[in-house]
Amino acid sequence: MISRRKFVEKAASSAATFAVSPLLMSATNVVQASASDKLSKPFYNSKAEKWKPPFKFGQGGAPLGGTNGLLVSDEEARKTLENAWEAGMRYYDTSPWYGLGLSERRFGNLLHRKPREEYVLSTKVGRILTASSKIPKTGWAQPDSFDYKYDYSASATRRSIEDSLQRLGISSIDLVFIHDLSPDNGDMKNNWEEYFDQAAKGAMPELVKMREEGIIKAWGMGVNTLPPILKALEVSDPDVHLAACQYTLLDHEESLEKLFPACEAKGNSIVVGSPLNNGFLAGEDRYNYSGKIPDGFKEKRAKMEKIAQSYKIDLRTAALQFCSAPDTVASVIPGARKENQPAENVASMQVKIPSDFWKELKQEGLIAKNAPEPTEKSTGR
Ligand SMILES: NC(=O)c1ccc[n+]([C@@H]2O[C@H](COP(=O)([O-])OP(=O)(O)OC[C@H]3O[C@@H](n4cnc5c(N)ncnc54)[C@H](OP(=O)(O)O)[C@@H]3O)[C@@H](O)[C@H]2O)c1
Repeated sequence: MISRRKFVEKAASSAATFAVSPLLMSATNVVQASASDKLSKPFYNSKAEKWKPPFKFGQGGAPLGGTNGLLVSDEEARKTLENAWEAGMRYYDTSPWYGLGLSERRFGNLLHRKPREEYVLSTKVGRILTASSKIPKTGWAQPDSFDYKYDYSASATRRSIEDSLQRLGISSIDLVFIHDLSPDNGDMKNNWEEYFDQAAKGAMPELVKMREEGIIKAWGMGVNTLPPILKALEVSDPDVHLAACQYTLLDHEESLEKLFPACEAKGNSIVVGSPLNNGFLAGEDRYNYSGKIPDGFKEKRAKMEKIAQSYKIDLRTAALQFCSAPDTVASVIPGARKENQPAENVASMQVKIPSDFWKELKQEGLIAKNAPEPTEKSTGR
């Protein structure tokens, strides 16, 4: 039997091979349809000093864990992920939290048969899962049979990564996010700063060490609010953050003013999570994960939709492209629950949107005047 230590050493050597072989990475990318060919080309921002996902577009993993109480069968999940791969997606994000292990198992089910050097994978730390017949009450539709507890210590961080590798059936994880360590996490009972102190002494230095050991390539915060990212930039040496619910067509001012400049100053980049505000910008009447749609947002969406229609553009397409525009954004990762959605989202990134559309949104005061417009480069076209 392979020992835990050997297992991690093996992961390290595999990760290191990938890290020093950018040519291998581009040389082995699969040639498929033209859209997927472009998507699977690594994308590097010239400003980059630190590692970041080399693909501008990726697949989010929360819906396949059963977000919004919506059940996804194994077969639906398999088809959704296979279609994501076929459509050219080569960056996948998941977490032990999503469906209490279910999303990781499903992602692993696709990815463990794919050449490891062809895709990038992120998962998260902060909750340790333990097998249990008593499944705690969560928002997941039909989670796996695990209980969870928060633990941002160094040893729990390493254990969480090993557990994820086991669930995924994969030899290495590229990018690790410290998950949901954030003031909006009601589950922490207003103790997020205490947990942050634990992470500052435990998870953060451990992830730096794991990066130095070559086990992972990069790490950062995976959160829905700004303060934990700013704090992590102050107290440690992260690389890339998953900022969810923070940069979307409907709500982006704070990120433009504070998040992006702070990240740029330290050479950090951003992966945009929830680019559709958890489906709101795809037409669903739910906004992020709060259960409440902010006042005026339905009206704002209706105004944007009307302008988009006049340019024959689907609002979801505009929303996805918008998120890719800032230089600080390395990748945009919408979630998908249904099998048709990944290819539709990939196709959205190929649409040419006239500059006048963005100008009109600005003139109407619907988006910030200083919001960058997406370009061929930012969308990976
Ligand atoms: N704290 C964190 O680290 C954090 C927090 C949030 C998100 N994330 C990451 O970011 C990813 C994206 O966020 P998200 O999945 O929550 O939200 P999202 O990408 O904003 O929205 C996903 C939802 O939009 C709908 N949708 C997607 N593609 C569509 C299409 N082509 N046509 C129509 N509807 C479409 C689907 O709704 P239906 O399900 O109703 O079909 C899907 O579930 C997550 O999956 C996760 O990987 C991380």
